[in-house]
Amino acid sequence: MSLLIKGGEIVTGAEHYIADIYCEHERITHIDRSIDPPAGAEVINASGKYVFPGFIDPHVHIYLPFMGTFSKDTYETASKAALVGGTTTMIEMVCPARGMSAAEGFRLWQEQAAGKSACDYTYHMGVTRFDEENAKQLRDIVAAGISSFKIFLAYKGAFGIDDAELYHTLKLAKELGVIVTAHCENETLVAERQKELLAAHLTGPEQHHESRPPRVEAEGVHHLMTFAELTGAHVYIVHLSCDEALREALAARHRGVNVSIETLIQYLVLDKTDAERPEFEGAKFVMSPPLRDKRNQPVLWNGLSNGEIQTVATDHAPFDFKAQKPMGRDDFAKIPNGIPSLEDRVNLLYTHGVKTGKLDLHTLVNVASTNAAKTFGLFPSKGAIQIGADADLVIYDPEYRGKISAKTQLMNVDYSAFEGWEIEGRPDVVTVRGEVAVRDGKFVGTIGRGKMLEREPAHF
Ligand code: URP
Ligand code: ZN
Ligand code: ZN
Repeated sequence: MSLLIKGGEIVTGAEHYIADIYCEHERITHIDRSIDPPAGAEVINASGKYVFPGFIDPHVHIYLPFMGTFSKDTYETASKAALVGGTTTMIEMVCPARGMSAAEGFRLWQEQAAGKSACDYTYHMGVTRFDEENAKQLRDIVAAGISSFKIFLAYKGAFGIDDAELYHTLKLAKELGVIVTAHCENETLVAERQKELLAAHLTGPEQHHESRPPRVEAEGVHHLMTFAELTGAHVYIVHLSCDEALREALAARHRGVNVSIETLIQYLVLDKTDAERPEFEGAKFVMSPPLRDKRNQPVLWNGLSNGEIQTVATDHAPFDFKAQKPMGRDDFAKIPNGIPSLEDRVNLLYTHGVKTGKLDLHTLVNVASTNAAKTFGLFPSKGAIQIGADADLVIYDPEYRGKISAKTQLMNVDYSAFEGWEIEGRPDVVTVRGEVAVRDGKFVGTIGRGKMLEREPAHF
């Protein structure tokens, strides 16, 4: 099977030019101003459209036992949604319960994906307990191709680790050349503030952000920076939401800490007033760290365009509004945390970033694809349009106009946080290693074709 994409405007993190792309045996084999169609090749006319490298979402949850329930997507539903939204590679968090060994967790998460994904995927290995047995297993997991860890400084009593575990996880990561992704919030402050609010009968979804104000996140970042500085580990702050936290991270980077930063599409386009909607509707917008005051949005957009922030992810964690969010109807601390957006990330970034002039096209590609590929050992197979790269391509139609709705989305969840929002542009055709997986914006791919990507640790 071979594919010729003709006349599109190729846009990478560094260049843009009009050319044809020929793909064979899953890879890009030829790029030229004009390529004659070889016999038997499928030809796609991309004139008037952009051709981007497949987008990468470096932070998703698909199988997630969390807060007494399970997130709703399967690899089948999530990978279809990802592809329709232009994401061709997902990095999922393995989040074992504290009582589960790392090896069991890794096996369990792989079982969820095996034979069910239409797009490629890999994992960040959650370290939810650190002891000698787990350390040995973590070494094996790294040797098996998982070159990043995930830790939580939040979720006391669930995924959270203590400071001794944090220290030893970072030391192991440094030794192995593994990057450590981290959820940064001070879990003691969160727990104590939740207790105070509930004792005062302040129980609604709008209290969620009161329990986790910006300083709680900034303190979590400061804490991680101290440990990263002393161990020399490369760390990656997931879902950074606010100015205060960014300042802590940048101050640490300035003094030499090796820190990469991720923000989320939700923080760029939603704000805390969404979580204050009446009649419990605010529960749709409960996630951690919480949605912030709007004043943070220009800080995050600027951080992306000036290179302070490396990636935009989704932290996709879908919980139904009707059946799952009400677990916290009388207690905001029990509302399952997460705002689904795997399908919408690229279109929202394009509509609210590129079309408004906040991001140029190269920055869009960098923050939604190339930087994640480079940071997590996938580049240049992923995140690039060059000879030899995997033929993961997004032919993007900038003229498309449409609306987001839960009624039409492929994510398996009963609401959209962006219901009725207009989008300006969408992926028209998406390929996964040379096979067309989306055509005319519709999924036409193959469940089970997606493979787990093995990644090498960085060499120090
Ligand atoms: O609210 C969130 N972020 N839910 C998913 C779990 C996590 O913290 O990443
Ligand atoms: Zn998190
Ligand atoms: Zn997450």
